[in-house]
Amino acid sequence: MLLSLKLSYKSATGQDYQAGLPPRDLVLINNGTTKEEDEDFVDPWTVQTSNAKGVDYDKLIVRFGSSKIDTDLINRIERAIGQKPHRFLRRGIFFSHRDMDQILDAYENKKSFYLYTGRGPSSQAMHVGHLIPFVFTKWLQEVFDVPLVIQLTDDEKYLWKDMTTEKAYEYAKENAKDIIACGFDINKTFIFSDLDYLGTSTGFYKNVVKVQKHVTFNQVKGIFGFTDSDCIGKISFPAIQAAPSFSSSFPQIFDGKENIQCLIPCAIDQDPYFRMTRDVAPRIGQPKPALLHSVFFPALQGAQTKMSASDPNSSIFLTDTPKQIKTKINKHAFSGGRDTIEEHRKYGGNCDVDVSFMYLTFFLEDDDRLEQLKQAYTSGELLTGELKKVLIETLQPLIAAHQERRKQITDEMVKQFMTPRKLDFEF
Ligand code: TYM
Repeated sequence: MLLSLKLSYKSATGQDYQAGLPPRDLVLINNGTTKEEDEDFVDPWTVQTSNAKGVDYDKLIVRFGSSKIDTDLINRIERAIGQKPHRFLRRGIFFSHRDMDQILDAYENKKSFYLYTGRGPSSQAMHVGHLIPFVFTKWLQEVFDVPLVIQLTDDEKYLWKDMTTEKAYEYAKENAKDIIACGFDINKTFIFSDLDYLGTSTGFYKNVVKVQKHVTFNQVKGIFGFTDSDCIGKISFPAIQAAPSFSSSFPQIFDGKENIQCLIPCAIDQDPYFRMTRDVAPRIGQPKPALLHSVFFPALQGAQTKMSASDPNSSIFLTDTPKQIKTKINKHAFSGGRDTIEEHRKYGGNCDVDVSFMYLTFFLEDDDRLEQLKQAYTSGELLTGELKKVLIETLQPLIAAHQERRKQITDEMVKQFMTPRKLDFEF
């Protein structure tokens, strides 16, 4: 039997089996198959690519089986809402979707839908990358005027990190302040901690067990890469992230209605949870949630990985001072400029790999100015230091304004957002 296993190992990897050594140049991807090292790795915990331009999102669309947000869809959104689409749509930052056309059908036929997004409260400070889905969700809530539920997965963080349940719950409440500071309407938004809400809701846990009954251990192993030695909390957690996709998890908001369509904005790293949810939904008599996926806000060091809260130098935090922002960008932001000023003037910089330029595409509202900067940098007229200065001057006021709004948010307001209640909608 061992000999035959060694033979299958060789045919799968092209290498001889050596005890204790993993196969060279091959990594495991989240559907349990192997892939070459130059391909991208994306799952809810890791984002890695060897390409300085970042993850190849077109390939990811094919691998994940989602659909591209193309010009037709953006035009349709514009017609439906009667206003200019958000810069995240105009610039391909939200680039992929599942069933967005069904959401637009519902909207055009005056049928209700709701928004669902979330955050895993792993630390006190969120970084600017985390803002992306929330800034976009706030815009969606405003233009479509729909209810929103925000899940804070403090249970997930307790299970994955070395953290007490009390700490995870504390971080959930702290992170809720940053989320509220994005400007969500208290009458249209319910924020909940899993540790808190699950035990009190009459609908949520029923959906959790329904999902649990319809997904096997083998399936979650394939989707999330769990192993036999992972605790059973992790193995069953995906059902908890799936449950808010069903309106019956929130009877107080939807008046007990079961079949209200859900739309989930998130970065594409969360898609594995919702591929599983969409697979299960029809089997438990629920509509599949629709999704809008964003690209990753890159780490300061380059687009090979996403900004991560666990590495302070890879990220700009919502708590950073103007001076910290300036130092981090000047010191760590990967530059697509040339080695010397002479060379830069002669050959120009490369916006495709320049982190400061990438950050400006997320945060600079003015399309014309962004285009001018691109031209000037590519032609060599604008130097890296000058481009970094534009970014610093864009981010400093933006983060200062966020901090100012956050300061106004009291524990009492957090409590109100987190109290299960009816929102300003009839169903
Ligand atoms: P978390 O806390 O890792 O991330 C919160 C949200 O931010 C997105 N995100 C990013 N977006 C752009 N660039 C980045 N560098 C970046 N890093 C993170 C994530 O995709 C996510 O949308 N398990 C989840 C919490 C969760 C959730 C959800 C998220 C529960 N239900 C429904 C989205 C939708 C988590 O730990 O997210």
